[in-house]
Amino acid sequence: MNFLKPLFLTFLLTFPLFAQESVEILYQRCVPCHGENGRKVALGKSSIIGGQSHDLLIQKLTAYQEGTLSIKGMGRLMQAQLRDYTYRDLENLSRYIESLH
Ligand code: HEC
Repeated sequence: MNFLKPLFLTFLLTFPLFAQESVEILYQRCVPCHGENGRKVALGKSSIIGGQSHDLLIQKLTAYQEGTLSIKGMGRLMQAQLRDYTYRDLENLSRYIESLH
């Protein structure tokens, strides 16, 4: 099993980098509509999401995922965007979007 050691060490050393990057990968899906900095009005409908508070964002994202929010009648579309994201993903996204300027 000794051959696993270097692999494990590499994983430990690179994991923080990977974790840092992964929320940006999650956000890539949002960029076409909401913009790199969350400053685009998605499809001419949404509010600006960049800089909204984490608490507000996590509320909206979970509600979209559950299918209980549709501010401009496009809730279904947002639900589809978030279909395969975990609660943890939504948490990370909310923190990330809050920090966008
Ligand atoms: C295909 C375009 C599109 C993509 C991709 C998209 N959105 Fe949206 N988003 C919209 C539209 C349209 C709305 C308005 C929905 C409604 O009617 O409530 C919206 C609304 C939102 C809102 C609420 C804005 C408000 O009114 O405060 C948030 C937060 C949000 N999106 C986050 C995301 C995140 C995070 C992703 C990526 C995982 C994403 N969106 C991907 C189009 C998109």
